[in-house]
Amino acid sequence: MCVFQKDNKMKVVIIGAGHAGVQAASSLREEGFAGEIVLVAEERYLPYQKPPLSKGYLQGKQSAEAILFRSENYYSANQIELRLGTKISQILPNEQEIITSEGEKIEYTHLILATGASNRQLKITVADTAEILYLRTLADARKIEEKLHNAKNVAIIGGGFIGLELAALAQEKGKNVSVIEAQSRLMERVLPAVISDVFKDTHLQNGVDILLNTFTSSIEGNTIKTQCGKSIKSDLILAGIGVIPETKLAEQAGINCENGIVVNEFQQTSIANIYAIGDCANHYNVFAKRNLRLESVQNAVDQAKVAVNHIIGKAEAYQAVPWFWTNQYHLKLQMAGISTGFDEYMVRGDISSGKFSVYYFKDTKLIAVDSLNKAAEHLNARKLLSLGVSPSKEEILDVSFNLNSLV
Ligand code: APR
Repeated sequence: MCVFQKDNKMKVVIIGAGHAGVQAASSLREEGFAGEIVLVAEERYLPYQKPPLSKGYLQGKQSAEAILFRSENYYSANQIELRLGTKISQILPNEQEIITSEGEKIEYTHLILATGASNRQLKITVADTAEILYLRTLADARKIEEKLHNAKNVAIIGGGFIGLELAALAQEKGKNVSVIEAQSRLMERVLPAVISDVFKDTHLQNGVDILLNTFTSSIEGNTIKTQCGKSIKSDLILAGIGVIPETKLAEQAGINCENGIVVNEFQQTSIANIYAIGDCANHYNVFAKRNLRLESVQNAVDQAKVAVNHIIGKAEAYQAVPWFWTNQYHLKLQMAGISTGFDEYMVRGDISSGKFSVYYFKDTKLIAVDSLNKAAEHLNARKLLSLGVSPSKEEILDVSFNLNSLV
């Protein structure tokens, strides 16, 4: 462990205890930071991982304990003051203080905003008698778990990552499932037709009813009415229609925000000594060559390390290759890089086998690779992308050519 003893009067306060916030606290200690660390969590539970909620947890394969980042003991043993059930209502940058909803002041020398994102809510007429459940927290997952147990017919609004993971697990539990998606394809925000279609076919084969190009116009009782006049009856309505970055505190403090909290390559916001990391941070991404927010574990973890390094005087700019994943039935999709804006793609492998990768190019440069049930190829793709190596068309299409040899 590197020993950092420059200034043990430093006090880092982290708001948010998801992947980004917990990683920041752990990394500070791992790097030998000797000052105070306060980790503020709005929820009352010990910090836990959110991605397994729509996967292992709701499938019944992982318990709430199994998805904790750390045991309770870890925080005390590492002198990380964990403030559970604490909502922050204000940041006072001039005073270098934050205020809790109970009016308590917490001072900081460095503040890290790891406030994440919240679920986008449907903007339609919903009768008082109707209930729509969204998934973000463990409390949400527990509620869904309970209702799912008794439900027969489940309607899911949104055919993105969350909606489809919920559809797969509800179908596996023997429910009748309908997915209502506004776009013409599933997961259209990030995937091309060649992959969306494999997921659509798999959901259909498993008996999920998929309605594309379909907007919900109202929900009354247990009936969803679509804009094209269809009625879908269900005893459980779930929605996963995207997320909105949590920027309220930052905006009130006068921090520059635009689709998230704007940060530089060291995760610094527009106000000195305040950093933002993870889903809430809008950064210039060297791979995409533009400003964006990433909603992924990898981004949360890597940006936490970048902010920590900057605080302890070991500045290293953020330049990790982004990657994401989703699991639905036997389909394990791993995405490396950012494919938005590609001008050509090539498929390596046989689509009908359900095991293949898609290589995306922009101006002849490899910008992203999506791998379906090809874990080793995904790992190699991350290496290719981080090294900036672009295989030729021939090398990609020739499955006997070993792409590992290029790294
Ligand atoms: N009716 C039907 N579909 C809608 C509506 C609507 N009113 N509004 C949005 N949608 C669809 C979008 O077209 C999109 O396909 O909902 C889908 C939302 O998908 P995502 O953007 O992938 O968002 P979500 O599934 O909620 O996941 C949110 O959580 O775990 C993370 O990485 C995950 O970034 C993802 C985030």
